[in-house]
Amino acid sequence: MQSLGVDIGGSGIKGAVVECSSGELVTERFRIPTPQPATAEAVVDTVRQLVVQMGWNGPIGCGYPGVMKGNVVHTAANLDNSLIGVDLGAALREACNVPAVAVINDADAAGVAEIRLGAGKDVNGLVMMVTVGTGIGTALFNRGILVPNSEIGHIRYRGEDAELLLAEPARKDRHLSRKRWAEQFDRYLKYLESLFWPDLFVLGGGGFKKPEKFEGIFTTRTPVKFAQFRNQAGIVGAAIAAAEGMEIH
Ligand code: BGC
Repeated sequence: MQSLGVDIGGSGIKGAVVECSSGELVTERFRIPTPQPATAEAVVDTVRQLVVQMGWNGPIGCGYPGVMKGNVVHTAANLDNSLIGVDLGAALREACNVPAVAVINDADAAGVAEIRLGAGKDVNGLVMMVTVGTGIGTALFNRGILVPNSEIGHIRYRGEDAELLLAEPARKDRHLSRKRWAEQFDRYLKYLESLFWPDLFVLGGGGFKKPEKFEGIFTTRTPVKFAQFRNQAGIVGAAIAAAEGMEIH
């Protein structure tokens, strides 16, 4: 089955049609910059433009960078607060004129791709996916089952919201080299492992687009793998969520 996977990010809204059994992108990846301010109306309209550009009229799965329950937005850390309370599934279904839309958290979407088809496949214990981009997202899977909406990127760490210390905008503002940043991120992972004792970390998002730059840097006792679907994991997992008719409650 094929569906359109859409990844709503802080800087870009990206989409591609995905063959859900393999995770393969069957079209090129389309990208439109995230509107500023990213109000509910502007975000819905941008996804609509993407869908029109792609000429798509089948099911859509969408990764959203905040807490999602039953297709309704509950938080908007890096987007406009007007999104909170919006039934994004219904709004997109209507705007895009498609039969079905599933919306789940963006890191959960990336994790779904990795657990079903990628770096976390066949890992039986606790897998924690951590994505780094405009925000820090996390996805937790116990024996392959998603524990949705974990927001461990916002855990208090060194007196701060971890995301404000370690996500991409913070790395740039603090003029940290990739290496310096990775050393600090390693300490954050160690903190997470002391609290959750995962069996595997899977790292993804734009911050880990080039995993070769991080080889040998992480010193956690927990094994670390990089997302097999790289920065497309969110698109692939969102498409799978649509194919499975996934709804988070
Ligand atoms: C949001 C998460 C999201 C992450 C990555 C955080 O600011 O609270 O829900 O997964 O950013 O986009």
